[in-house]
Parts: sequence; C-alpha cells; structure tokens
Amino acid sequence: MKTATARAHPNIAFIKYWGNRNEVLRLPMNSTISMNLASVYTDTSVTWDENLDQDILEINGTIASEQARLRVSDHLERIRRRLGLAIHAHVSSSNNFPMGAGIASSAAAFAALTVAAVAAAEEELTERELTTIARIGSGSASRSVPSGFVEWFAAETHEDSYAESFASPDYWNLVDVIAVVSQAHKKTGSQAGHRTASTSDLQEARVAGAQARFDVCRQAIINQDFATLATVVEEDSNLMHAVMMTSRPPLFYWQPPTLAIMEAVREWRADGVEVCYTLDAGPNVHCICTSDSVDEVRNRLGTLSGILDTLVATPGGPATLI
Ligand code: PMV
Repeated sequence: MKTATARAHPNIAFIKYWGNRNEVLRLPMNSTISMNLASVYTDTSVTWDENLDQDILEINGTIASEQARLRVSDHLERIRRRLGLAIHAHVSSSNNFPMGAGIASSAAAFAALTVAAVAAAEEELTERELTTIARIGSGSASRSVPSGFVEWFAAETHEDSYAESFASPDYWNLVDVIAVVSQAHKKTGSQAGHRTASTSDLQEARVAGAQARFDVCRQAIINQDFATLATVVEEDSNLMHAVMMTSRPPLFYWQPPTLAIMEAVREWRADGVEVCYTLDAGPNVHCICTSDSVDEVRNRLGTLSGILDTLVATPGGPATLI
C-alpha cells in the first residue's frame, strides 16, 4: 500500500475545446491552447489498497456523490488496465478555490488524479502519455499536466492527441483576473455541451477556422504580442459561445453583468489598457491582461456592478508530486 499526492492547476483556454470527434476517447474537434493558473490548485492523494472492494472518493473532506465517485472510478479503471493493477483506491481531493468560482475544477482534478494514481502504483509514464490518460477523464485535463503555456493536439488516435508545453510560466507575465458574477452551479456542464456542439450550424465554421486561430495565438504568445493575442482570444471565445447559443437545445451561459464586463473590457483596451476577455462554459469573465495592467483592470472592475468576487492568477507550473 503506497500513497502519492499530486498538485495540479486549472487552466484557462485561449483557443477553446468545444466538441469531440470521438466522445469515448474525448478526441477534440480542434487543437487548443491554454495557460495554467498558478494561485489555484487541486491536491489529490491516491492510495491503492488491496483491502478495498470498491474505489472511495472524498472531496474537501466529505464522501463525494455516487455520480462523482463513478466518474473517478471509471478513470481509475483505465489506469488499472494500463498498469495491470487489480486493486481499488482511496482518493482524497481538495481544492484551494471555491467550487462554482468559474474555474473549471475538472481539469485540475483529472490531471492530479492521473499523476497521483500512477505514482502511487510506483510506475513512471512519460508526460505525453499522462496527458493522454488525463484527457479521457476530462478533455481540458490534458492541458493541466504540462507547465505554463500549453498546446493540446487534435488527432485521430488516443496516442496522438496529447498536450505539451510550448512556453514556461515565466515566459510572459500574463495575468488572469477572474470576475466572478455567479457562484451557482451551471445547469449544463461541459460534458453534455460537447455532445450537442455538432447540432449548431455554426460549429462547422468554428472548427474550420480553429487551426488558423491556434497558429495566430501560439505565435502571439511566442512574440509576446498582446494586441494580436487579444483579438484572437476574444474572437475564439465569441465563436464558442455562438455555437453554444445556437445548439439544439441552445446553451446560454452569459448573464447581464457578463456582457457589461465584455463591453467594458473592449473599451478599456481602446483606452490603451492591455486586457481582453475569454469565457468558459459559465458566466464568469476571465480578463487576461499583462502584469503592468493588473491594478488598472482590478480598479476598473471595481467600478462595475454585479461582480461578486475577483480572483487573480499568474501562469502556473505543471502537475507535480508533493
Ligand atoms: O474539459 P471539459 O470537458 O471540462 O471542457 C472544457 C470546455 C471549455 O472550458 C469551455 C473550453 C476549454 O477549452 O477549456
């Protein structure tokens, strides 16, 4: 019996993942880019224990729902098959950020779970393989395994749809200032959303242009070219939300304060503040800015109504054993 604990950071996508070409393997329609978020993390401990007759999951000190336990158990089953294990595990996970804060907890959760479960079995896999395993738990979790600025490749096979870092966290001092406008749990999560993405007439067009946006975004990060980054990041977020709103049934994640913040961010940028917005499957607005503009962005957000909280995150490192 051995325990390992891993820490992983959530990530914010600059080029979004929305829709799979293979639902079971979670092979995405398009390649994506993200930045890990340093100040927020999930710590997960895994103990493989021959005395257990089923997997056990605790989240923040309490026994998790059966639905959550089964999703984790499915993931452990993949790891058992890969490593040739026949025993169950005790998994204990905690987040240092509030659930429902507009930060995708599943990315950090499945990245930490994968890294801890493999280490607790005293096995070593390459980072590339760890990203592919994490991906099947939650697509975006593949991007929380490597460090800093990460690309995740769309591909036809399990082995080829992996994630890797293309710039370290200290390569560029970008900051994500998250304006929390709702702490409620979303009614439709991303898993169901990926399945309906193809019902939107706009998904084909979004996917057709995704590789070009990916290339522009990656080069903008390499060049530290904020103006180019801002344009492509906002466009990619708008396209994903256009697909969501036109899916059958439609998904509307924006709330009135969401739109007000998006509009304000565009005005602030026109005033010379280096800031742009991006949104995941929820109403909270991730304001991506340079470190020189953080104070200005926070002050200006403070003048808007409808913001319950703001969280600040700089580029984060990889999933690591602690
Ligand atoms: O990994 P999932 O299934 O939680 O999907 C994430 C989807 C978005 O957050 C909306 C976009 C992304 O690329 O992170």
